[in-house]
Amino acid sequence: MSRHTIELTVNGEAVSAEVEARTLLVHFLREQLALTGTHIGCDTTSCGACTVLVDGVPIKSCTAFAVQAQGAAIETIEGVARDGALHPLQEGFWEKHGLQCGFCTPGMILTAKGLLARNPQPTEEEIRWAISGNLCRCTGYNKIVEAIHYAAGKLASTEKQASEPGSATGEEAQS
Ligand code: FES
Ligand code: FES
Repeated sequence: MSRHTIELTVNGEAVSAEVEARTLLVHFLREQLALTGTHIGCDTTSCGACTVLVDGVPIKSCTAFAVQAQGAAIETIEGVARDGALHPLQEGFWEKHGLQCGFCTPGMILTAKGLLARNPQPTEEEIRWAISGNLCRCTGYNKIVEAIHYAAGKLASTEKQASEPGSATGEEAQS
């Protein structure tokens, strides 16, 4: 059985681990790193519950080998909140009731995070297209779209405040 050492960062922390060549990224995250917020819904690249960001790009981790993550920066749902504060996407799902059972939610949030990084003000159609690989069996999609819109608005207003002259963060941004 061939084993490999991989080095990567996961939620900002350096990780070095030994994996079998056949280990899927989702199993590595859940079983070796105990990051069980990344879910497995189908194992066949259909549901998106296993979505994580790899170098900022959403991928379905049930369809990637752990060895392919060598040298990459991985982000899972456990790394989305910072310093105890919810990310605007998490807040959006809370405020707009974007979940019921929550099984699809980590994947939805990471897909949406990837979308907002490349398109900070997506249209409804662009949001629906972006999450078209993420299935939700209980909430329906309207509330999820509203949650992502909420996050886009919140991120835009935070950025605007930070860039205003005289704001503490604005001064930092300009220095
Ligand atoms: Fe990966 Fe469903 S578990 S897409
Ligand atoms: Fe239950 Fe989406 S909230 S599957």
